[in-house]
Amino acid sequence: ANMKLLMLAGDGIGPEVMGEVKRVISWMDKRRHVAFDLDEDLVGGACYDAHGVAVTDATMDKAMSVDAVLLGAVGGPKWDDVARAHRPEAGLLRLRKDMDLFANLRPAVVFDALIDASTLKPEVVRGLDIMIVRELTAGVYFGQPRGTDVRDGVRYGFDTQIYSEPEIDRVARVAFDLAKKRGNKVTSVEKANVMESGVFWREVVSNVHREAYGDVALNHMYADNCAMQLVRWPGQFDVIVTDNLFGDILSDCAAMLTGSLGMLPSASLGEADASGFRRAMYEPVHGSAPDIAGQNKANPLATVLSFSMMLRYSFDMGADADLIDAAVKNVLAAGLRTADIMSDGATLVSTEGMGRALIGE
Ligand code: NAI
Ligand code: MG
Repeated sequence: ANMKLLMLAGDGIGPEVMGEVKRVISWMDKRRHVAFDLDEDLVGGACYDAHGVAVTDATMDKAMSVDAVLLGAVGGPKWDDVARAHRPEAGLLRLRKDMDLFANLRPAVVFDALIDASTLKPEVVRGLDIMIVRELTAGVYFGQPRGTDVRDGVRYGFDTQIYSEPEIDRVARVAFDLAKKRGNKVTSVEKANVMESGVFWREVVSNVHREAYGDVALNHMYADNCAMQLVRWPGQFDVIVTDNLFGDILSDCAAMLTGSLGMLPSASLGEADASGFRRAMYEPVHGSAPDIAGQNKANPLATVLSFSMMLRYSFDMGADADLIDAAVKNVLAAGLRTADIMSDGATLVSTEGMGRALIGE
């Protein structure tokens, strides 16, 4: 099979953390005879410096045709004064939009080795493994009309929360399919008590469930209650599916149950076509961390775990993904830490040191 992978390392610590994924890829090539059709290109500030745009048309063509894109991070103070259309994040936005990446997967996994005295309520987060599926291309962040106006001499600001049936249907299917491979439970989150679009969301998710996923447990929850439950008893969740706005907030909330930004992977998926091909981009949740860039200090695990998600969801290589996830767990259990997750008695390692330790495991 052709496993076409496009790497876009980007700016700041992007190339450093991506370097450790390359280390894993070359190990897979040598030791497990798994060869990717690997291409690399510029994105963000690095692309702006070379071509005057945050992503070129040629790179977009590649991104649209490969099986998966792995992105590092973009941005940095160097490009703060660049016009909005060419800012580093414009590259990211174009990738997401043109690839129609409507389902954003944000796992919140707690590594028990990282639970220490500084963790809020260790007994609540121990063993946590939840997946938040956020709708990424519709809802109030994109709905029309939006803007400001004056009525009867009073100024207004407004946005429109709007979801079509197909938009809810397709993200619900992603959530149910994921649940079947995990804990077989989906919690659908909205505010059906006070929003018409919430009533509609609940209706469409229920229809998809009844029609095609009757064997998966489904419950519905109001978004404000979900925020409380995430902090009070996160272990009750398996897969959470929700809209763009609630997903933005709840995924960040869930992320902080797990500790460091340097540990958080993500995936963004497009629609599967008739042949089963699905566009996908994988990236760590963190940014380009200009404060530590170029110092061999960055935690590469978020990017390595994003690569592991890629193996699992784009290449159907669950066994290899399990191997990488276990290696991450083991290096942490062995007490190795980059500076961002350092604790008393642990061993401080560099970005490269962490990558080498992973290979060892
Ligand atoms: P950031 O995530 O880059 O950094 C926040 C803090 O976390 C910093 O202290 C940083 O050193 C630390 N950190 C982040 N990732 C780390 C890692 N892997 N290992 C160790 N420490 C890590 O967010 P910030 O500072 O708000 O933004 C910096 C730049 O990144 C900005 O230009 C921003 O626009 C961009 N950004 C890009 C994103 C992306 O490419 N998806 C997402 C968020 C921000
Ligand atoms: Mg957010």
